[in-house]
Amino acid sequence: MIGVFDCLARPLLALVEAENAHRLAIRALKLVPRGLKPIEDPRLGSRVFGLNFPNPIGMAAGFDKHGEVVDALLRLGFGFVEVGTVTPRPQAGNPRPRLFRLPADQGVINRLGFNSEGGEAVLARLAARAGAGGLVGVNVGANKESRDRIADYVSLIETFAPVASYFTLNISSPNTPGLRDLQQGELFDELLARVVDARARVSRRAGLTPLLIKIAPDLSLTELDDVVGACRRRRVDGMIVGNTTVGRPPSLKEVRTAKESGGLSGRPLFALATRMLAETYVRAEGAFPLIGTGGIDSGATALAKIRAGASLVQLYSSLVFRGLGLVGEIKTELLSALKRGSHRSLTDLVGLDAAAMTAESWPL
Ligand SMILES: Cc1cc2nc3c(=O)[nH]c(=O)nc-3n(C[C@H](O)[C@H](O)[C@H](O)COP(=O)(O)O)c2cc1C
Repeated sequence: MIGVFDCLARPLLALVEAENAHRLAIRALKLVPRGLKPIEDPRLGSRVFGLNFPNPIGMAAGFDKHGEVVDALLRLGFGFVEVGTVTPRPQAGNPRPRLFRLPADQGVINRLGFNSEGGEAVLARLAARAGAGGLVGVNVGANKESRDRIADYVSLIETFAPVASYFTLNISSPNTPGLRDLQQGELFDELLARVVDARARVSRRAGLTPLLIKIAPDLSLTELDDVVGACRRRRVDGMIVGNTTVGRPPSLKEVRTAKESGGLSGRPLFALATRMLAETYVRAEGAFPLIGTGGIDSGATALAKIRAGASLVQLYSSLVFRGLGLVGEIKTELLSALKRGSHRSLTDLVGLDAAAMTAESWPL
């Protein structure tokens, strides 16, 4: 099924303008048969943030922003799906074009700017599938014109608590002016305090939903010290490292497209994001688990994330170039890696390379 979809659709989608291709992919996913059930190898399963993940490969935020194809993605083999970023009120995002492919680099640049159907519409979809099972994280963000951005996060925690397997606070999108300031000092601490408080308030009806923070790979190491310190003090459940980068590695071949403003993802992000993951892992000292995101496009890159400190991984950009068959390929390669090293589970490999990685020269 996945093979047929990939072979027929991918070459055609490559010819279509990037955002239209994304809409077509979402429409096609709505046709995935309901009866499909992935067969999971128990050796890839793990318990993280108190949740049982059937496998460690998640769909990263941004692909299914409005919660339209969660079940199709789970049926096609993702271990979990992160919906969003959702903003409280609907908003259109930035003017098009705002999504660009860099095929020669296997990268993507986006400046979508939180186009969201809004909390109410996404909640209705997730509520309609309540009881269907599967792990569905909800990634939340603030409206561009909001006067109290922290209040936006709080309201979304209250709204989505009954349906979210976990929450991600997205404070690292480069496409909403000023949003990334929420990662800094007192503002960050105030955000955490108010969100942790809101989560405790709603926990009486929904239980204590795990709370993750998604950071930019562009933080300085001093800023990272502060962010990890605050997350530890406020006892968040985990971090996602990380979002897209505003940097443009000198190695990029698509020089013209690289000049577009926005966040860069995919293969050119891998080295920086993996280094930041290792830096986060050594600072967290086991206080909470991490999700590694950025440039995963094979079993080897997924494994490198795990060895750098990720308990789970997420991907998005590589699917644009490689198609959904990649998920199965990565699982097969991870199982081979377990066999080669005589490990019983991936948990044995988490963070094995982190300390060594932080001693290497900084990736360009
Ligand atoms: C088109 C596009 C849209 C994205 N939208 C979001 C978003 O709404 N919220 C978010 O937290 N991350 C968003 N991301 C970032 C991804 O979730 C991920 O962190 C990043 O792309 C790195 O992973 P990748 O290299 O596998 O794509 C988006 C990425 C892309 C390519």
